[in-house]
Amino acid sequence: MQRLIPTLRRDQVDEALISVINTLQICAKEISYRLHQGELAGVLGSTLDENIQGETQKKLDVLSNQLLKDILLECKHVRAIASEEEDGIVDGDESGDYLVAFDPLDGSSNIDINSMVGTIFSVLPTPKDGRSGPDMFLQQGTQQVMAGYVVYGPSTMLVFSTGKGVKMFTLDQTVGEFLLTRSDITIPAHTQEFAINMSNQRHWSPAMQSYVTDLLAGKQGPRGKNFNMRWIAAMVADVHRVLCRGGLFAYPWDSRKPDKPYKLRLLYEANPMSYLIEQAGGKATTGLERIMAVQPTDIHQRVGVVLGSADEVETCLEYHTRSGNE
Ligand code: F6P
Repeated sequence: MQRLIPTLRRDQVDEALISVINTLQICAKEISYRLHQGELAGVLGSTLDENIQGETQKKLDVLSNQLLKDILLECKHVRAIASEEEDGIVDGDESGDYLVAFDPLDGSSNIDINSMVGTIFSVLPTPKDGRSGPDMFLQQGTQQVMAGYVVYGPSTMLVFSTGKGVKMFTLDQTVGEFLLTRSDITIPAHTQEFAINMSNQRHWSPAMQSYVTDLLAGKQGPRGKNFNMRWIAAMVADVHRVLCRGGLFAYPWDSRKPDKPYKLRLLYEANPMSYLIEQAGGKATTGLERIMAVQPTDIHQRVGVVLGSADEVETCLEYHTRSGNE
């Protein structure tokens, strides 16, 4: 089985980018070790703090963030990092060619129940126009040069793309190395499976409500087929399933908080996942437009997300277009 770095060299990935990926995989192994120690490592549970998003921080959120931050900033190719757990960006090496945005531990409410969580990352080129600070990160998802995630489940997997298809590596605990286990991932265009937090249904837009109502109506409804539902409540794990066997994943607009109608973050959740989904032949939209075409205005910006099997995402979009709203 092929090891990580030789695989990247064979794909002629730029050496500086290989160095960034290498740094990320070192962090991933460290986080994976702590997670698998679980209760024994004494790192479960919450801190007394909230992050910039107003969410309670888990001890492992903080630890994973610190690990990624410290190790990435030691890499001379990293110009700056942006993290879900940091208010602003943190500068690295002035001459670094890359910016790394990450969610250190996605789905962290799953930690205490020993369920799947993950690290999501997006790598952008350092702009050459003299910009500095958070503005450097305000680039469309189409500019990403690499994106991926690590899913910590029964096995730890590193899944990423450098623009040449999606590759999946599995951590071989016996030798401590990520080995290539799947490549050229392709998402089937059709699906009969969807993932959404159904408890929010009454708060969605009329278009989203009627789309899901029709899915639930099954064979007797307008779609003429039955659909199955899955919800792991960690985007990383739900998207991993979509990459493995197809499906539709959505976290749509919600009417409850007019100033915060979306949940998922553009820079370090929606964009990297969209990059993978598109590389695998799927589609990723906000419900209105291609996610990777959204021009970010803030590093912690949120967006609506509807992604997965191309034909099903198209069908969902038709409901939105017909109703003329999100
Ligand atoms: O980052 C937010 C997140 O944890 C995602 O990973 C996940 O898809 C979603 O929130 C779960 O939301 P809910 O708590 O509504 O199920």
